[in-house]
Amino acid sequence: MRKWKGRLIALGVTLAVLVPLAYLWATSLVPNDYSAMDMGYADYGGGPSSGHQHHGGQHQNGKGVADLTGPRTGKPDVAVTLVAKKQKFTLASGESMDGFTLNGSSPGPLIRAKQGQLVEVTLVNESVPDGATLHWHGIDVPNGEDGVAGVTQDAVPVGGKHVYRFLADDVGTYWYHSHQVSSEEVRGGLFGTIVIDGADDDVIAAIHTYDGKRTINGRTGSQRVEVAAGKKVRVRVINTDNTIVRTGLVGAQYKVIAVDGRELHGPTPVTAAFPLAAGARVDLEAVVPASGALRLDAGTVSMEIGSGTASAEPLPSATVDLLSYGTRAPLGLDPAKADRRFEYRIGRRPGFLDGVPGLWWTINGHKFPDVPMYMVAEGDVVVMKISNSSGQAHPMHLHGHHAVVLSRNGVAATGTPWWIDTLEVGDKETYEIAFLADNPGIWMDHCHNLPHASEGLMTHLAYEGVSTPYQIGGKHGNEPE
Ligand code: C2O
Ligand code: CU
Repeated sequence: MRKWKGRLIALGVTLAVLVPLAYLWATSLVPNDYSAMDMGYADYGGGPSSGHQHHGGQHQNGKGVADLTGPRTGKPDVAVTLVAKKQKFTLASGESMDGFTLNGSSPGPLIRAKQGQLVEVTLVNESVPDGATLHWHGIDVPNGEDGVAGVTQDAVPVGGKHVYRFLADDVGTYWYHSHQVSSEEVRGGLFGTIVIDGADDDVIAAIHTYDGKRTINGRTGSQRVEVAAGKKVRVRVINTDNTIVRTGLVGAQYKVIAVDGRELHGPTPVTAAFPLAAGARVDLEAVVPASGALRLDAGTVSMEIGSGTASAEPLPSATVDLLSYGTRAPLGLDPAKADRRFEYRIGRRPGFLDGVPGLWWTINGHKFPDVPMYMVAEGDVVVMKISNSSGQAHPMHLHGHHAVVLSRNGVAATGTPWWIDTLEVGDKETYEIAFLADNPGIWMDHCHNLPHASEGLMTHLAYEGVSTPYQIGGKHGNEPE
């Protein structure tokens, strides 16, 4: 009977579609609680594996994240308490917001320390329902102070507190932010700035978009910083948003003197825009013109620096390219003698992530949480090739380390050593970077367009022999992204 045969074929076709789909759905489910150490599969990058059970198990003679802390004793030189709240608050420019504050404001307080000082920050969670942490973005602190919920600590619940202690060894411009449900908490304002060894009269400019309103230091529109004509200023620009910002000084030539907390070598004066990746920082230096003022342009917001009238000129269309900016200097490591070579290939494909159908990011062809765990040993020189064919740009951020850019799309870097902690990798771009594995721990390596990280564009760099007692999920509800 033809009708039956037709129905059987239809049923067969349906099953042939549904069974694999059900399988894909079921295998995409992320367990409710799991250890970062159990995530995905170990990638040794051509280096040795210890042969011990270092991945996904307890390590007998290894170290725990909790052992890798800053100094536990000693009187801090800089002691700050930051109280986190979920609340309605008012921006410095007057608009009312619903989000998150530290000590009643967003951005939270600027923390300043001199090089070598002991910094102690006590985070108190007064009312952030999902819990909170503080991550010291770009400061290569010991792993136990890194502030990643479920990896280096438990999220601080309402009514709880957590003390971070670290030495301010890394001079430069940084910021701090919650690394618990970070895609919501950072956007909502749970962040602040931290400068190590800056001068008191440096200008700080933290760019953040609250509910569609771009701000600098919490102010929309145009704001002024009074600086005498003829004075040289250092402007520390911090991009706390999820996407790249074209910024730069208008009204005089400027130099790009530091990026991600690292001084550049042989910077030359430019009139151009600087592409500042999400999470990244840039220090610009210029002399306030005798008549007029400098203008820091950040798209819909600006800061006038000086006492005269600032130029209304838009940012030039030219862009500073650090691949060839400044002059060469020794890197302090030899990438040709790398102990490990990794690939971090970013792609995108349809499928399920934790049971939800969609177009999801992939790392080396794998969807979260089945992603590579990059395994290193202390002292390794590591080369990583990051390539992107996902259709979108990704500001890639490695915790706990600074890496130097070796090449872009096969073209070798010829300018200043270009050290980064956050690197914009555009669609169809390939970067080779190198770093020294000198900070043992389990370190996130993720996209700083934070919604992308929560959609699976995140993995870890892990040192052999280091384990974490913390769990993602679990009774603390740890959810780093
Ligand atoms: Cu600024 Cu993992 O973050
Ligand atoms: Cu991304």
